[in-house]
Amino acid sequence: MNEITLLRPDDWHLHVRDGEVLNDVIPDSARCFGRAIIMPNLKPPITRVAQALEYRQRILSAVPENSHFEPLMTLYLNANTTAEEITHAADSAHIHALKYYPAGATTNSDTGVPCIESVYSALEVMEEKRLPLLVHGEVTDSNVDIFDREAVFIDTVLTPLLKRFSKLNLVLEHITTSHAVDFVTAMPDTVAATLTPHHLLMNRNDIFRGGIRPHHYCLPILKREKHRQALIGAAISGNPKFFLGTDSAPHAKQTKENACGCAGMYSAHAAIELYAEVFDEANALDRLEAFASCFGPDFYHLPRNTQTIKLLKDDWVVPKNIPFGENKLIPLRAGETVHWKLA
Ligand code: DOR
Ligand code: ZN
Repeated sequence: MNEITLLRPDDWHLHVRDGEVLNDVIPDSARCFGRAIIMPNLKPPITRVAQALEYRQRILSAVPENSHFEPLMTLYLNANTTAEEITHAADSAHIHALKYYPAGATTNSDTGVPCIESVYSALEVMEEKRLPLLVHGEVTDSNVDIFDREAVFIDTVLTPLLKRFSKLNLVLEHITTSHAVDFVTAMPDTVAATLTPHHLLMNRNDIFRGGIRPHHYCLPILKREKHRQALIGAAISGNPKFFLGTDSAPHAKQTKENACGCAGMYSAHAAIELYAEVFDEANALDRLEAFASCFGPDFYHLPRNTQTIKLLKDDWVVPKNIPFGENKLIPLRAGETVHWKLA
């Protein structure tokens, strides 16, 4: 197959930051995605509906004129999130979920959830209102090996959580291990997972290929090849629990090329093309549309997009860098070839 037409896909996990950089990153997502779940880990985080609605307006101002890209907003859950705010969020047409960051797990998560029990009353309201909880699934205990943090989170936090809140709609975000694939598969239909292009395309050797590669550092960190194979299996399985979420996370070049570089990879410039590479390599291009364009809206009880996009099997070279406000960012595959192209 050298070309493929898909219902317009959506990105169910996206970081776009705020301010003038929106003008640099939003067009990259808007060129192929109809909608995106916008992560709330700004400084300060988006914890209130009113803040999210203002942020939404700033994002919309950065959407190119020829696009109908729609930001789907989320709130940052913390120990102070009230039942009123969750009810307000559930009643808003523009708030679609709350994001759970264990405090200290990743970029701008220091005001996240210190212990899961501190948000149990909030989760009760979310379960009742059917407002999904989007989970960064890693424990933060520095004694736990960084490559085990997702598995330990599943066993020690998520399993008891879902026993207690058995009807909670929950997305385990950016899964990275076979353990997560097995866990999500075994759960009821109310539990789903997103898969990123970088975890589908790379393993942990890619962090150290010929030297240390700060642009391949993200959280959860890349894992062993056997885990990558399990993720590909989930993506191409046709199981509606697994759908597209890029976790595209822009950072200025100098904050990643740093003695203490921050976590996150930018993939919005080539997102659907990179997923097409994964599905093509696995001889499963016929499953790409369901994964990219159908299972996400079905889970969120939103209509599927009706327009289509066309992808061509055609090499192009990713720019070495991309403007990011007054800075530059280094996109995934910078200076290298991508084998699929948006028509
Ligand atoms: O690598 C990551 N970057 N993982 C996250 O969970 C957050 C993200 C970011 O915001 O930069
Ligand atoms: Zn993320």
